[in-house]
Amino acid sequence: MAAFVGLDVGTTALKGVMIDDAGRPIDHAAAPYTVDSPRPGWTQQNPDDWWRAAQTVLHRLVRTRMPDAIGLTGQMHGSVFLGPDDRPVAPAILWNDQRTEAQAEAVTRLTGGRIVDWTLNPPRTAFTASKILWFREHWQDAARATTGVVLPKDYVRLRLTGDRATDVTDASGTNLFDVRARAWSLDASAALGIDPGWLPTAVESTAVTGTVRPGLDGLAGLAGVPVIAGAADQAAAAIGLGIVRPGLVSLTLGTSGVVYAQLGGVSVDPSGAFHTFCHSVPGTWMMMAGVLSAGGSVQWYRDTVDGRDFPTINAAALSVEPGAQGLVFLPYLTGERSPHNDPQARGAFIGLHRGHGRDHLARAVFEGVSFALADLVDQLGRLGVPVEEVRIAGGGAHSGAWTSILASVLGRPLMRTDTADASAYGAAVLAAAGAGGQAVDDLARAWIAGTDRIDPNPAAAERYRTLHPLFRDLYPATRAIVHALQDTARPAPAADAPPHARSSPALVEEP
Ligand code: XUL
Repeated sequence: MAAFVGLDVGTTALKGVMIDDAGRPIDHAAAPYTVDSPRPGWTQQNPDDWWRAAQTVLHRLVRTRMPDAIGLTGQMHGSVFLGPDDRPVAPAILWNDQRTEAQAEAVTRLTGGRIVDWTLNPPRTAFTASKILWFREHWQDAARATTGVVLPKDYVRLRLTGDRATDVTDASGTNLFDVRARAWSLDASAALGIDPGWLPTAVESTAVTGTVRPGLDGLAGLAGVPVIAGAADQAAAAIGLGIVRPGLVSLTLGTSGVVYAQLGGVSVDPSGAFHTFCHSVPGTWMMMAGVLSAGGSVQWYRDTVDGRDFPTINAAALSVEPGAQGLVFLPYLTGERSPHNDPQARGAFIGLHRGHGRDHLARAVFEGVSFALADLVDQLGRLGVPVEEVRIAGGGAHSGAWTSILASVLGRPLMRTDTADASAYGAAVLAAAGAGGQAVDDLARAWIAGTDRIDPNPAAAERYRTLHPLFRDLYPATRAIVHALQDTARPAPAADAPPHARSSPALVEEP
């Protein structure tokens, strides 16, 4: 029986899933690593930590069975700067790093405002292009030694096969890729002064990019196994959740909350809330948008305010009436990406009175996060993107309180699937499709189904129809005050702050 492995280069760990040729999981393994934050707002990792974790996970999995193909997925947007020997010349700058606000603005300026025409997406601090501009400006020695840049999962590919390659879904998140043409935008790289020779080959998610090279320590048995392009974590998770036709939408409730829809063609959200990227079903496109603190808000609430365990908080939230007696929670604890695109947005409880206790606050948190996600699903509707079935995934999908509140806020049923580790599983499905020459959408249809359905509660849904517009009004109504509050909280610049670093940074920061 054949076996396929998916490797997910996550932000906190590398996860591996092995499946058989009927799509059944047969083994899994994980190896953790850390994120360095040497300055506020900076997030970096040593790419060789990912490679060490990949080796650990593969060592574990090959003991169960030697796979017939390996598919890759991972955190998006991050930049790994490579020297001529294919080794990193600096730490990788991650998707959630905030140092590049000025460079994101420079992308618009340097491209004469044409970046959306060329790449379909406005600049973001997250995207790779702004990271490359920052790198050239601030780590000049390292930049002089650089011959290429790859995305996180593609560094593991490079170490496995020796190929500098990526897939079209991950390339879409660089702001250097013509998402419509599914090819690098030479206009974008020329306007930003980025050598197109720095960019890896970009292929569809089911393409074979090479084979495992011989002589890898402890992994000699893998030599010659095909490595499939794979997809960005969200695009691989979409395969893992069966999002393989227009009308199916996934809602992933992790630390962040991501809404993802396959499109019938190519379209762009003029409001900028949704990104338009290539989908992992070859030749198709998707839209996705995320709120930054979904599960993150629930976790903050538990750790900082409530103190009880999750099952107790779940039950407590369900013991309170919808609307939490006039209490609303704004979940913008780490700023907001979509729809507000405002790093200075902040959270709030509004409408507190003496009668409110922890149970009301718990309910308000689940409701506030659900309203923020519903803002995104509603935006899909306004864009004419069909929403026939919403599939939920991520840690939050296991919360009975959150999912029933979310179904009522959306006013539509939610389907749960039984896919654990959706990104790694999706990468394994892409590997199976790529190695076997089968259509990935056929495999996903055959292997992935909804397991149970969560229906809205009609009375709660009615109440939420009244409350949602009030929630929506709160962000614009409080924005100016919240921004002014941020100004008062900013630390005064240190008199002895060093000038911009001009030398190559150490790959691992000194303790
Ligand atoms: C998507 C995004 C995250 C990262 C981290 O745009 O930034 O999903 O891929 O997992």
